[in-house]
Amino acid sequence: MDLKNFLSEKKKIVDSALKKYFFVDKEEPNIINTAMQYSIFAGGKRLRPILCLIAGEICGGLSKNIIPTACAIEMIHTYSLIHDDLPAMDDDDYRRGRLTSHKKFGEAIAILAGDGLLTKAFEIMDSKVVKEIALASGTKGMVGGQVEDIITSVHSIQYIRLCSESYGGQAVNSEQKLKEKLEYIHVHKTAKMIEVSLKVGAILANAEPKKVKAISDYGRKIGLAFQISDDILDIIGDKKKLGKKGSDIKNNKLTYPSVYGIEESKNKAKNLISNSKKDLKIFGRKAIILEQLADYIVDRNY
Ligand code: IPE
Ligand code: IPE
Ligand code: MG
Ligand code: MG
Ligand code: MG
Repeated sequence: MDLKNFLSEKKKIVDSALKKYFFVDKEEPNIINTAMQYSIFAGGKRLRPILCLIAGEICGGLSKNIIPTACAIEMIHTYSLIHDDLPAMDDDDYRRGRLTSHKKFGEAIAILAGDGLLTKAFEIMDSKVVKEIALASGTKGMVGGQVEDIITSVHSIQYIRLCSESYGGQAVNSEQKLKEKLEYIHVHKTAKMIEVSLKVGAILANAEPKKVKAISDYGRKIGLAFQISDDILDIIGDKKKLGKKGSDIKNNKLTYPSVYGIEESKNKAKNLISNSKKDLKIFGRKAIILEQLADYIVDRNY
């Protein structure tokens, strides 16, 4: 089966599993269920839950033991996008080809829909991996990356002040510091969640520690490459295909293209991808699909 068909088969599995978590319950207000469904069923690629399922499979696990956690990861990812688009963050009007949650439901419900998804994720995930996922999505992971992403961008006087305070009054000055900051942001806001998706898939399949480590190393590298590609697509991508309009330049974001230019950014992403494949040796032929996925990360156009 080619990669495209493979991904679309896996996406169907994830989509139908997700549906089961969104029955309207009379104990919860209808509007929050509607808003959560609006974003979760908007046509996301489901990359993270698919990676979680594949990691479980190649480590010999049963997918029924992994699906709830894979769905939980997609809920956390979707919450992060709803909040990322808010006026106080990236202030975007389109996501996954439709109006962003706050444009459709207002800011208060959008914030609560994000809160609802994050909380539901911790309700449904396997209790064995709660700590891993909390660490990857919290202040030492995605939230931390988002914080630096916001305070490093210079779209508000308040953030500039916050930024200088957090560096003891010194703005990010040297080029080296800037590059380190950029890598920190991308690894934390994006790669950590991609890494943990693979890692917990392996853990739930009871993989031996060296396999868990190898798949995590692979995940961190493709995760960073994924965000570099996202930065590139923000500038040169087809907005219709992407389903979002691109706002990094308007928001003065610290991105790979803004620091290295497009060509060098592409090279960096490619190098990460070829490096990531070395981590897969321990899995032998079973990991071919992860090799193809690694290539897809940089070749994708949405
Ligand atoms: C977008 O993620 C946000 C980033 C971390 C770059 P995806 O490109 O995986 O978005 P969806 O889930 O397919 O919409
Ligand atoms: C978002 O990065 C990373 C998240 C944790 C949500 P971006 O702000 O670049 O994602 P897009 O481009 O809006 O999807
Ligand atoms: Mg952002
Ligand atoms: Mg954004
Ligand atoms: Mg982006």
